[in-house]
Amino acid sequence: MYRKSLAILGSALALLAFTLTPMRAAQSSPPSDGYVGADACKSCHGSHYDAWNSTKHQKALGKLQAAEREGDKCIRCHVTGSPDMIKADGAKPRFPGVQCESCHGAGATHVDQAKAKSIVKGAIVKTPDGDVCARCHSEASPHYKPFFYDAMKGLVHTIKK
Ligand code: HEC
Ligand code: HEC
Ligand code: HEC
Ligand code: HEC
Repeated sequence: MYRKSLAILGSALALLAFTLTPMRAAQSSPPSDGYVGADACKSCHGSHYDAWNSTKHQKALGKLQAAEREGDKCIRCHVTGSPDMIKADGAKPRFPGVQCESCHGAGATHVDQAKAKSIVKGAIVKTPDGDVCARCHSEASPHYKPFFYDAMKGLVHTIKK
């Protein structure tokens, strides 16, 4: 009887260990560093989302050939995330294209605050400045075209006709 319940306990533990394995595996995947992706902004910022969704930023990953997506030489300016994330995800980025958080910064804290209706200003960048754009719009880009912040900032959430 005692032995039997030990055996049951043993298999229960084995089952538990088995169930927990995928959770541990998920933890070992690269961290999201607070990035949540544009889809997480859509429900509250629908008009900004829809406008952004028609820009070249949204489609920027599509400009890279398969071979150009390896490593982070090209992809780092054509996808969204922290440098570590971008490196770890490689050719299969979680957040393809130049999404909201490329300019406004990682959004997890702002999303949590907004959902809890307790927004603290500063958790998300209100007006990304020219330095933010220059991370990509600079001579580090092999296709660099002259960039004028004041003339171009208004285009980032403008619907293309
Ligand atoms: C649950 C709803 C919700 C979600 C999800 C959400 N926001 Fe917001 N956001 C708000 C509200 C509410 C405000 C305050 C609006 C205001 O002051 O006019 C705000 C403000 C902002 C501002 C202006 C900040 C400021 O200091 O005035 C930016 C930029 C912004 N959100 C970007 C984002 C981005 C990017 C995402 C996705 C990562 C996102 N939001 C997700 C509700 C949300
Ligand atoms: C390429 C950079 C870039 C991307 C991508 C981008 N934004 Fe913006 N966003 C800006 C800039 C710059 C401003 C300020 C515009 C201005 O002052 O004319 C702004 C302003 C805003 C504001 C208004 C803040 C305020 O109250 O003045 C919100 C909200 C916002 N963006 C949300 C989003 C969301 C949501 C996305 C993605 C769906 C997104 N943005 C994608 C650069 C960007
Ligand atoms: C993470 C890198 C990155 C950041 C940050 C970035 N851009 Fe871009 N931007 C790109 C790439 C890549 C393209 C080219 C996309 C293409 O041709 O498919 C582009 C294209 C553009 C275009 C041409 C879009 C069109 O539809 O014709 C404008 C305008 C622009 N960016 C403005 C800005 C402004 C303003 C900021 C800062 C507020 C900014 N970008 C920040 C990477 C970035
Ligand atoms: C430092 C950031 C950055 C890097 C790295 C980068 N790009 Fe881009 N890419 C941009 C920006 C920004 C644009 C939009 C044009 C501009 O204003 O510079 C762009 C545009 C493009 C375009 C659209 C064509 C055009 O002339 O507008 C292609 C194709 C492209 N990049 C391919 C690549 C390839 C291939 C690599 C790697 C060899 C690469 N990019 C690396 C930022 C970058």
